[in-house]
Amino acid sequence: MRNKTIELLQSHRSIRKFTADPIPPEVLDEIVTSAQWAPSSHHVQAYSIIVVDDAEKKKTLSELAGGQKYVDECPIFLVFCADFYRLSLTAEMHETNFEIAEVENILVAAVDTALAAENALIAARSLGLGGVMIGGIRNNPEQVKELLALPPYTIPIMGMCLGYPNQQPWQKPRTPKNAVVHYNQYQSKETLVRELNHYEDISSDYYKKRTGGVRSDGWTKQMASYLSKPRRVHLKEFIQNQGFDFK
Ligand SMILES: Cc1cc2nc3c(=O)[nH]c(=O)nc-3n(C[C@H](O)[C@H](O)[C@H](O)COP(=O)(O)O)c2cc1C
Repeated sequence: MRNKTIELLQSHRSIRKFTADPIPPEVLDEIVTSAQWAPSSHHVQAYSIIVVDDAEKKKTLSELAGGQKYVDECPIFLVFCADFYRLSLTAEMHETNFEIAEVENILVAAVDTALAAENALIAARSLGLGGVMIGGIRNNPEQVKELLALPPYTIPIMGMCLGYPNQQPWQKPRTPKNAVVHYNQYQSKETLVRELNHYEDISSDYYKKRTGGVRSDGWTKQMASYLSKPRRVHLKEFIQNQGFDFK
């Protein structure tokens, strides 16, 4: 049951080190075209892709994303934005009401954006490139907005470093299938806890081996810690200021 697509999907790992080779324009064009062929809720296509190849801008974005140096080092950094601005123009063109206050619209745009981004990453990998998505782009959304001249109704959702891989990291083990896939109804808490304990062992082993023993917490411990404090609390105000009301 293996084929090239399945092998590509199941050999995913994020790439954070790149060779100095530039990405040819025709390769970039295939990547963004593939992104555009993602399905879209109600065909709203509520996203935009900002291609950043300007060295100064990449450097600034790497700092704004929390000092992630691969943003600066990759030849091309893509910023995927949820985007209802283009849709606001359709309302202007046709002099209709523009109603985007509901949370539904943010969900639609975020999902569309993520689908386009993943298509881009898969297309890039199929052409020999590698990359990593960068949620750090949401650390300082106001500055990102200013740097990239983002209009109202746009939200930078994720960045993506792209380039030719200069590393082949281990694959990170995923959650056991039994804890993720449910048949006909959601399974019992007991099953989930059993699988999570199993995953804690698997992932702890992975981190111990990968870091030579420096890091040993498994996934459940890491997630418990990750979710123990609020994150990016500034986003609500930013999103509201961009014209989405959370109604
Ligand atoms: C939306 C999104 C945002 C992410 N943001 C970052 C980031 O800011 N920095 C980073 O190094 N990795 C980031 N990642 C990569 C994840 O850390 C990575 O996908 C995860 O640890 C699993 O590892 P793998 O992709 O190598 O399998 C992000 C991934 C996604 C999907």
